[in-house]
Amino acid sequence: MAKRVAVIGAGVSGLSSIKCCLDEDLEPICFERSSDIGGLWKFTETSKDGMTRVYKSLVTNVCKEMSCYSDFPFQEDYPNFMNQEKFWNYLQEFAEYFDLLKYIRFKTTVRSITKRPDFSETGQWDVVTETEGRQDRAVFDAVMVSTGHFLNPHLPLESFPGIHKFKGQILHSQEYKIPAGFQGKRVLVIGLGNTGADIAVELSRTAAQVLLSTRTGTWVINRSSDGGYPFNMMVLRRHHNFIAQVLPSCILKWIQERRLNKRFDHVNYGLNITKGKKPKRIVNDELPTCILCGTVTIKTSLKEFTETSAVFEDGTVEENIDAVIFTTGYTYSFPFFEEPLKTLCTKKIFLYKLVFPSNLEKTTLAMIGFIHLTGSILAGTELQARWATRVFKGLCKIPPSQKLMAEAMKKEQLIERGLMKDASTDKLDYISYLDDLASFIGVKPNIPLLFIKDPRLAWEVFFGPCTPYQYRLMGPGKWDGARNAILTQWDRTLKPLKTRTIPGSFKPASMSHYLKAWGVPILLASLLLIYKSSIFLKLVPEKLQDRISPYLVSIR
Ligand SMILES: Cc1cc2nc3c(=O)[nH]c(=O)nc-3n(C[C@H](O)[C@H](O)[C@H](O)COP(=O)(O)OP(=O)(O)OC[C@H]3O[C@@H](n4cnc5c(N)ncnc54)[C@H](O)[C@@H]3O)c2cc1C
Ligand SMILES: NC(=O)c1ccc[n+]([C@@H]2O[C@H](COP(=O)([O-])OP(=O)(O)OC[C@H]3O[C@@H](n4cnc5c(N)ncnc54)[C@H](OP(=O)(O)O)[C@@H]3O)[C@@H](O)[C@H]2O)c1
Repeated sequence: MAKRVAVIGAGVSGLSSIKCCLDEDLEPICFERSSDIGGLWKFTETSKDGMTRVYKSLVTNVCKEMSCYSDFPFQEDYPNFMNQEKFWNYLQEFAEYFDLLKYIRFKTTVRSITKRPDFSETGQWDVVTETEGRQDRAVFDAVMVSTGHFLNPHLPLESFPGIHKFKGQILHSQEYKIPAGFQGKRVLVIGLGNTGADIAVELSRTAAQVLLSTRTGTWVINRSSDGGYPFNMMVLRRHHNFIAQVLPSCILKWIQERRLNKRFDHVNYGLNITKGKKPKRIVNDELPTCILCGTVTIKTSLKEFTETSAVFEDGTVEENIDAVIFTTGYTYSFPFFEEPLKTLCTKKIFLYKLVFPSNLEKTTLAMIGFIHLTGSILAGTELQARWATRVFKGLCKIPPSQKLMAEAMKKEQLIERGLMKDASTDKLDYISYLDDLASFIGVKPNIPLLFIKDPRLAWEVFFGPCTPYQYRLMGPGKWDGARNAILTQWDRTLKPLKTRTIPGSFKPASMSHYLKAWGVPILLASLLLIYKSSIFLKLVPEKLQDRISPYLVSIR
C-alpha cells in the first residue's frame, strides 16, 4: 500500500512536495489554510488574514529560466522577470498540468503534528486539522512541512527608543500592498532588503519624500546584465563556481566589488557595507536613480523617535515624519509541533541539509523551503522534495539520528563559545547546495561523461546558466525534455523581447562578439584540463580551498 504523506501548505514548496510524492508513487494529501494555491504569490488586497503575500508591484528577482520547476519550463512568451500575477499563473499551470489540485484540501489549517505512540517502529504521525471550525485527526506515514520562511512579520520595535511616542502611522511591510495613502507624505522606510528598496522606490513616485534607513548598506544588482541578458543566467554558471574554488577569495572579492561598483559607486550613494557587517545584496533596477534624483534619501540606522521626528545615529534629525514602514523581514515558526521539535526545527544546524530534523529516529519528517539561496528558492525546494520523498521510500539513506545530533550539538557549542561562525542564516551557494542534494538522489549531471557522450549539451551545462533542467538529465526522475529545454533556454529568454522585428535589420555578430562569448569559456576549458592533469594543483592544501568562498555567484 502506498505511503500516505501529509503536505502542509500549497505554496511553491508545497506544490513541489505534492508533485514529488506522486512521482514516487506516494499518496499526498495537502492541507492549505487559505482558499488557493501559490502561498505568498497569491495577491490579496488586504493582509487581514495575517498571511505574508506579495505587494501589487512586486516583480520576480530571479528570471524565468532559472526559477522554474525542472520539468516544466515557462511558456516562451512569458517575460523573463514577471509580476506576481504572471508568476502565480505559472504555478496554476503547473498544478493543473500535473493534476495536483485534487490532492489539496483548502481552508484547512494544520493544528498539530505529533508522533504516534509507536513512532519508533512505524515513523507515523498524528495530524490534526481544522476546516471551518471542524477538527479532524488522521494518521500519516510521513509529513512534509512547507509552511514558508516568511510566516510572521519581524517587527523589532524594542530596538527603537521612543517609537511608542511616535504619533504618525507605523506599519510592517506585510501590511503594505499599494502606494495609495502615502501621497504627499514624508515616509521613513526602515531596513534595506529587497522589500525596503522596492517600497522606497515605489513610494518615491508619490510621497513628498522617502527616507530609507539602513544599518548595513547593501550591494545593488540589476535584473539585466551586460548585453541586457538576465543577470542570474550570466553568473550562476558551473564554470564560475569552478573558478571560485581555485582563485583566492580576496581576488574574487576584488573582481566582484569592482564589477558591482561599475554601474555606480556604492560609497557615493551611501549604500556601501558598514565595516564589520556581513555583506548583503539586493536586486533593484531603480534605487540608484531615485537616490540620484533625490526622491529617496539614504539614512544611517535609527537612534530614536520623538513624537514627529526621527533621530539618526549620525546625529541628523528628520522632522515631520508622517509614516514609518518597517521592512525588517520575517520570522518563521512551527506552532503545530510539540517541544522539543518545535524549537529544534527553527535552529538550522539541527536540520540535516536543512531538510531533516536531526533528533528523529525515523526519517519521516521533511522541512521543505526553509532555505536562503543565492539563486531561486523554487529550484531548491524542488530538489529538497525529490530527495525527501526518496528518503521516505527508503531509496536514499541519511546518517543515523545519534550521529546527526552529536554533530549539531558540537557545532552549537562551538558557536556559543565563539569558536565557530554561525553561518546558519547565510545564503547558501545555489549550485553547491543543489549539487549536494542532487548527488544524494543520483541526479547530479556527470559533466566529464556528458562531454564524451554529448559535447554540445555538456558545453551548455558547464559554461551556460545552471538552469533547473540540468537535474533532470540523468538518474531517477530523468525527463526526456531536459536536453531540449537546456538547448533552447536562450530562445525562450529572447522570445518575449523580440516583439518588433524589422525586415533587413538582422546584424551578423561581429568577431569581437564571438571572442567575448566563446573566448572565456574556451580559455577556461583549457584551464580546467590543465587543472585536472596538474599534480601541482592537486597538492594545493584542502584548507586553502575551503577558505575560498564561491564568490562569483549571484543572489536571489
Ligand atoms: C515579498 C517576497 C518576494 C519574493 N520574491 C522572490 C523571487 O522573486 N524569487 C524567488 O526565488 N523567491 C522569492 N521570494 C522567496 C519566496 O519565499 C519563495 O519564492 C516561495 O514563494 C516560497 O514558497 P513556500 O511555499 O515555501 O512558502 P509560502 O509561499 O509562504 O507558502 C506557504 C503556504 O503554507 C500555508 N500554511 C502555513 N501554515 C499553515 C498551516 N498551519 N496549515 C495549513 N497551511 C499552512 C500558507 O497558507 C501558504 O499558502 C520572495 C519572498 C517574499 C516574502
Ligand atoms: N522579488 C523581489 O524582488 C523581492 C522583493 C521583496 C522581497 N523579496 C524576498 O523576500 C524575502 C524577505 O525580504 P525582506 O526585504 O522583506 O526582508 P530581509 O531580506 O530579511 O531584509 C530585512 C532588512 O531589515 C533590516 N533589519 C532587520 N532587522 C532589523 C532590526 N532589528 N533593526 C533594524 N533593521 C533591521 C536589515 O536591513 P539593514 O541591515 O540594511 O538595516 C535587513 O536586511 C527575501 O528572500 C527577499 O529576497 C524579493
